Amino acid sequence: MADCATVGVFDSGVGGLSVLREIQRLLPQETLLYLADGAHIPYGEKSQAYIRERLVRVAEFFRAQHAKALVLACNTATVAAVADLRERYPTWPIIGMEPAVKPAAAATRNGKVGVLATTGTLQSAKFAALLDRFAGDVQVFTQPCPGLVEQVEAGDLDGPITRALLQRYLEPLLTAGCDTLILGCTHYPFLKPLLAQLIPPSISLIDTGAAVARHLRSQLEKVDGLNTGPALPTKFWTSAAPDSLEGVLPLLWGEAAGVERFSD
Ligand code: DGL
Repeated sequence: MADCATVGVFDSGVGGLSVLREIQRLLPQETLLYLADGAHIPYGEKSQAYIRERLVRVAEFFRAQHAKALVLACNTATVAAVADLRERYPTWPIIGMEPAVKPAAAATRNGKVGVLATTGTLQSAKFAALLDRFAGDVQVFTQPCPGLVEQVEAGDLDGPITRALLQRYLEPLLTAGCDTLILGCTHYPFLKPLLAQLIPPSISLIDTGAAVARHLRSQLEKVDGLNTGPALPTKFWTSAAPDSLEGVLPLLWGEAAGVERFSD
C-alpha cells in the first residue's frame, strides 16, 4: 500500500473531530481527510433513507480521494448506512461506530445505564439489536437530545442554552439512578467539561472515539495498510459554508486550518 494513501473520516458536522483526534493520537503517521456534511445537519432528525443517500455521495468523494479506509465518525450515519455501504464496497475497510452498550454494561455497578444519543440512533433497528445483544440484565434508559448537536456546531459548549438543554436531558437519567452514561453521539464528548459540572463524579462517562481508532488500526493492519509516515497535514471539507467550520476549528480541533467546499 502506498505511503501516501489517506484515511477518510466523516461526520454530519464537527462531532467527528472528537474521533479524528483519537485517530491522530493513535496513528500519527496517517494522513487524514475530514468531511462534514454541514449543509444537511442534523442527521439525528433525518430519515434513514435520506442519510443513506447522503452517504453514497460521501463515500464516492472519499473514493475519488483514494482513501484506503472510511471511518464513519457518526453513530447516526452508522446505524442508517453502514450495512448499505459495506454491500456497495465489499473490499473497502469501513469502520462504523455505535453507542458503547457492551462496555457500559460491563462497567455499571448498579445495573443502570443511560444513553444520550440522537433520535435517529435511538429509534434505529440497529440500536435495538445492540441492546438485545449486549444489555443483558442491565436496565438501559435512553434519552434523545434534539438541539444539542446544533449547540456544539455553533461552538457553544457551556452557554446558558447548552447548559439548560443538557440539564433537561440528564434529569431523567439521574432520577433513574444511572451510574454510567453512554455518550452515543460524537458531538457530546465536547460537552464533557460541562457534563462534569452537572453530574456527580461517581457517574462514569463512556464514549467510543478511542475504540474506533483502535479498530481502524486493526483493520489497516489486516490489509497491510498502515503508513510509516510522515503524515501530511489533515485536510477538511464541508458541504456548508467553509467559514462556519473554519470558525470553530480552533476551539474544537485545537488549531486553525483552511476548509474546502464539498459540493455534490
Ligand atoms: N455526530 C452524530 C452522531 O454521532 C450526529 C449528529 C447529527 O445529528 O447530525 O450521531
